Amino acid sequence: LVNEPVGSVLKKDTEVVDRLKVAVIGLGAVAEPHLLAYKSLSAVSIIGVVEPRRARLTEIEKLYGVQGYETTDALLAEQRPHVACILTPAATHRAVTEQFAASGVHVLCEKPIAVTIEDAVAMAHACARAGTCFFYGSSYRYLPAVERARSIIQSGILGEIRLIVESVLGGDGLANYRPMSDAHYPQGGAGGGGYGLVDHGIHMLDIFPWLCGSPIVSVLGRGDRTGGAPETEFAMLKMLNRTMGFLMYDSCSRSTELPYEGIFSDGRRWVDERGWVGEQGQWDSGPGSICVYGTRGSLRIFHYANKLFINTGRIEEIPLVSAGATPGHFGLQLHQFHEDLRHNRPPATSAADGIRALQALHAIYESEGSGQWRPVPGTA
Ligand SMILES: NC(=O)c1ccc[n+]([C@@H]2O[C@H](COP(=O)([O-])OP(=O)(O)OC[C@H]3O[C@@H](n4cnc5c(N)ncnc54)[C@H](O)[C@@H]3O)[C@@H](O)[C@H]2O)c1
Repeated sequence: LVNEPVGSVLKKDTEVVDRLKVAVIGLGAVAEPHLLAYKSLSAVSIIGVVEPRRARLTEIEKLYGVQGYETTDALLAEQRPHVACILTPAATHRAVTEQFAASGVHVLCEKPIAVTIEDAVAMAHACARAGTCFFYGSSYRYLPAVERARSIIQSGILGEIRLIVESVLGGDGLANYRPMSDAHYPQGGAGGGGYGLVDHGIHMLDIFPWLCGSPIVSVLGRGDRTGGAPETEFAMLKMLNRTMGFLMYDSCSRSTELPYEGIFSDGRRWVDERGWVGEQGQWDSGPGSICVYGTRGSLRIFHYANKLFINTGRIEEIPLVSAGATPGHFGLQLHQFHEDLRHNRPPATSAADGIRALQALHAIYESEGSGQWRPVPGTA
């Protein structure tokens, strides 16, 4: 795997110490949550945003008071950001990363790092060659409930972690199912819906091993393809320390969750096409959660609702700060990158993390043909 050096340019770039100049590239669904979070950071200036869709660009310029550009070339002709936050579809991550790296700009790139391993490795090399830093946007690591769960697991209070599970079952029926377009994931390749294995499960392929402190060594499962009929997706994951991970996704049915499963969320409401930008604090009847089962205790992590429950004999709620609830986690992530740059140290989440998650994803797809467990390269 690739271990990027911290760029030598950082030492010369003293400006980055106090104030981070950021450009936001791609103004789709996830851009507003990023912009909302960045706007609340006093050490960050958004010096430009890029979006080829003129109407959307104008809308964001007005909503957030930012300078817009229709192309990355136009932005780079006028501005010199310290960091480009790449929020474009995965299929474009390589080209955009290479352009900013070649211009001496550090990169924070959304998940999945890329569509192919080849592209992901090329991105890491482009940054290493240019002496810029590549930060993999593993945003779930910055959700307060997830971060707190990790420290509880590490404390040993749950005993040995045997199982970690996420299932997102039930959308609004097959007629209302909307797959990700081939602008994100090419036809015939790994794809599917926004809450499926590729576009969402990639988060879990990063945070399950991070939570358990042990890499995924082998996988078995199946996933949807762009342009193909959607089916139930699943993956079983074996960690080196013998923890098992289970993922299950199906957005083509309807949920059987009952109202008592609902929870009052500290996170913002998801607004279609705009991300988590609604009012803060509302009843969420189907909150997403991750379950962690240990030999002495268990956790239920409501990652976006910002709630955490523990059962070590009796069930208790663990109080969390609300400051980093979604979309605040994008601000915590950028703050982390700023700190890494200020102290000239390797990024907290690097290209290697993005590549590892992508390798596990590809191994799941490879396992389907043979029905056999597949090793994840570099860890078996
Ligand atoms: N971390 C998270 O929780 C999270 C959530 C949603 C999406 N994402 C990721 O963020 C990325 C974007 O997702 P989205 O849902 O916002 O997609 P989207 O399709 O809604 O938006 C992508 C935008 O990028 C623009 N674009 C395409 N090529 C461009 C280029 N070369 N330069 C500038 N703009 C360009 C498109 O016009 C579009 O507006 C993806 O990698 C996705 O996986 C992450």
